[in-house]
Amino acid sequence: MEKKLKIGLIFGGKSAEHEVSIMSAKNIYGGLKLNRYKIILIGIDKKGCWRLVSKDCFQNIIKGLKKISDFENKKIAAIPQSNGEFMLLDNKKEIIKIDIAFPILHGPFGEDGTAQGMFKIIDVPFVGPDVLGAAIGMDKVLMKRILKEQKIPIADFLYFTKNQKREINYNKIADCLRLPFFVKPANLGSSVGISKVNNQNEFQNAIDDAFKYDKKIIIEECVVGREIECSVLGNEEPKASIPGEVKLNDEFYSYETKYISEDGAKTEIPAKLPADTIEEIKKMAVKTFKALDCEGMGRVDFFLTKQNQIIVNEINTIPGFTAISMYPKLWEASGMPFKKLISELVELALQRFDRDKKLKTSYTK
Ligand SMILES: Nc1ncnc2c1ncn2[C@@H]1O[C@H](COP(=O)(O)OP(=O)(O)O)[C@@H](O)[C@H]1O
Ligand SMILES: [Mg+2]
Repeated sequence: MEKKLKIGLIFGGKSAEHEVSIMSAKNIYGGLKLNRYKIILIGIDKKGCWRLVSKDCFQNIIKGLKKISDFENKKIAAIPQSNGEFMLLDNKKEIIKIDIAFPILHGPFGEDGTAQGMFKIIDVPFVGPDVLGAAIGMDKVLMKRILKEQKIPIADFLYFTKNQKREINYNKIADCLRLPFFVKPANLGSSVGISKVNNQNEFQNAIDDAFKYDKKIIIEECVVGREIECSVLGNEEPKASIPGEVKLNDEFYSYETKYISEDGAKTEIPAKLPADTIEEIKKMAVKTFKALDCEGMGRVDFFLTKQNQIIVNEINTIPGFTAISMYPKLWEASGMPFKKLISELVELALQRFDRDKKLKTSYTK
């Protein structure tokens, strides 16, 4: 009989999207079970400690009855170059081994290349983006500079670091980008720290708030249009799903609208669009994915203006997998059921690992 793959489902994390990650992990767990993989649950608490979590405890975490940090004696440490081994710190003789890591971590310390770097050091295959794709996809400034260079349409933007704070001038920005405009931390997600600025009174708070989350901020022209999302899957030859639409009742797609408010947003799958627009969006999603050096998965988010202009807003390299999340729903609607999507993601991780193993690590003639 074929040996069951041991998948390390890694969730939680140090970012402001900790709770979202737990909601995503619940669904991925279901998908991994459907595929009959052996699942090792690894929770990262809000301080960044990695802990082994039992199935029962996982159920309590999902229900919000327990926190990952409650499992005090289950801290684990990764072992470099071990092909997927972790050591239980309370009992250093106990080794936990995984064949593949499935990180479902959103935001910094998980979706930004840091966790991916660790998987490389451990020498274990991992699902989702590689180090560079994750890092670029997380940084809205670098992402947009690359998209601009590739002539992929994006909103006009400016960016500042904390030590340029004195150069941030409301009148200059309003002149350049027009009102209203968006202020965002460069590295985050789930709309945390994002404000729409309509006038000078709202300006300073928006800047201060964004700088609470990152040392770099991006300020963008406001694009008026429908919000369309498209899922991408693959390594060298990625493919795009049919697009879906997020229909908002709120000012913008804020954290509350995304995860709390019951009627703030509705999704429409497939998005009602003409066939040629669908094709163009799919093509642009793949182009964006490749331009940003992504592999595995990615959800590319667009604005579609009244004039039918397609503008890329961002890529999410570890997109949400919550019950209401677009990424898996779009694949489902494109003919790929959840179970198959999960096994494809695992397969892509294994293929990349094998491909990269063939690269030389030392110089010989
Ligand atoms: N330039 C913009 N024009 C119009 N709306 C925007 C713009 N940037 C962001 N938004 C709104 O804010 C939401 C969150 O912004 P986004 O850049 O996608 O950040 P996050 O990575 O947190 O999802 C978007 O879904 C959209 O509703
Ligand atoms: Mg977004």
